[in-house]
Amino acid sequence: MKYYNSIVELIGNTPLVKLNKLTKGMKATVFAKLESRNPGGSVKDRIGLSMIENAEKEGKLKPGGTIIEATSGNTGIGLALVATMKGYKSVFVMTEKASAEKGNFLRALGAEVVIQPMTAKPDEPEHYVNTAIRLSQEIENSYFPYQYENINNPMAHYQSTGPEIWNDTDGKVTHFVAGLGTGGTISGTAKYLKEKNEKVKIIGADPYGSIFKVFKETGASPEPIPYLIEGIGQDIIPKNVWLQYIDEIVNVTDKDSVNMCKRLTMEEGIFCGGSTGTIAQVALDVAGKLDESGIVVFIVCDTGERYLSKYHSDQWLRDKRLLTPESTTVGQVFLTRKSGTPGLVFVDGDAKVFEAMELMDEYNLSTMPVLEGNECIGSLRESSILEKVMDDRTVSGKTVRAVMDEKLPILDFNSHVKEAIDILHKDNAVLVSQHGRIKGILTRYDVLDIA
Ligand SMILES: Cc1ncc(COP(=O)(O)O)c(C=O)c1O
Repeated sequence: MKYYNSIVELIGNTPLVKLNKLTKGMKATVFAKLESRNPGGSVKDRIGLSMIENAEKEGKLKPGGTIIEATSGNTGIGLALVATMKGYKSVFVMTEKASAEKGNFLRALGAEVVIQPMTAKPDEPEHYVNTAIRLSQEIENSYFPYQYENINNPMAHYQSTGPEIWNDTDGKVTHFVAGLGTGGTISGTAKYLKEKNEKVKIIGADPYGSIFKVFKETGASPEPIPYLIEGIGQDIIPKNVWLQYIDEIVNVTDKDSVNMCKRLTMEEGIFCGGSTGTIAQVALDVAGKLDESGIVVFIVCDTGERYLSKYHSDQWLRDKRLLTPESTTVGQVFLTRKSGTPGLVFVDGDAKVFEAMELMDEYNLSTMPVLEGNECIGSLRESSILEKVMDDRTVSGKTVRAVMDEKLPILDFNSHVKEAIDILHKDNAVLVSQHGRIKGILTRYDVLDIA
């Protein structure tokens, strides 16, 4: 019989997958290390296991105990998986920034979730870490792993992630790229790889707004600025960030992180989250400058399913102004236009002009298509129809067909939004069709926040 004794035996030994499309034209090889293949779906399963098992050995975690941790979600999931297996209760403190999927996953594993405001500063009691500390003092028989300072966090990576990368590349890895949240992943892996070969370059990927890059380069802690990527970046320097092993830290914008997250998903089939986009962006920039001997390994922190309501939601991207004209389709813009806007208001050619004008008034439309079946045969434009009615009052009783203006242009759902923007420079509206069926209309107003 081939089987595993429990789900925790599946933690680690994650595969390296070569990138093929995103590396086109490059001489170096780039491998994604799929931490998303861990049973809890993230790189944090490794530390969930090591922090719990070491706490048991040290007598800090006792039967019937409660595990309490401050987490952006993934560490909570890693801890909860192991806690469930071993019969511990768990409480996780997160900020409002954590995706809904992570909170729901934790609750599904039987954990309690406490959400704290994003605005609380590190020295305020409402800060999520301070809240976890308070709960660990108040709840009896509890254990607070404190991933930011727990040595078993980086050591889990020293003992597993580092050796896996070294062995799977036959010791040929030249560059390792990871993000920094607690610092555990990059620090432990870097220590191992540098001990094997001090020439291996270790590069940290950091969102603009986080303080790691500036701190590494100047020793100063700048005022943090909010950014949208979850799980990496900090407003303090945690103890588990071992800067002595990190050669360089590179900043990436939210927009570049999200675009790369989507490209990894669509072009390489590696379904990932925003922090993986940040890391991959840096890995590919680094790889682009290397020759054939370059072997770059980067971390795929977790799975895209965890962010279906964020980086993989067009509506969220639009709300955060992250839909770029370069990579957005007409269909995406149509489906995410302001709620309450009707998809399509139209008349047929036999309707009376006064009826059409009532519709235009009701929906506050400046342009309305005239449709016959699935075909646009003309349009009504507010300025032109008003002029016609004022010139001749009997026009309002005539059919729309008799007085309508020219047809509206039509674009397919999959057309580039730039085409719509070009049309809307000259015309008021463009019809949107999907597989030959007219689905709706876009006006200038609908593309204002995309252009
Ligand atoms: C999505 C995601 N990426 C990256 C990291 C960073 O890993 P580390 O805390 O080991 O620096 C985290 C940490 O919580 C994370 O949740």
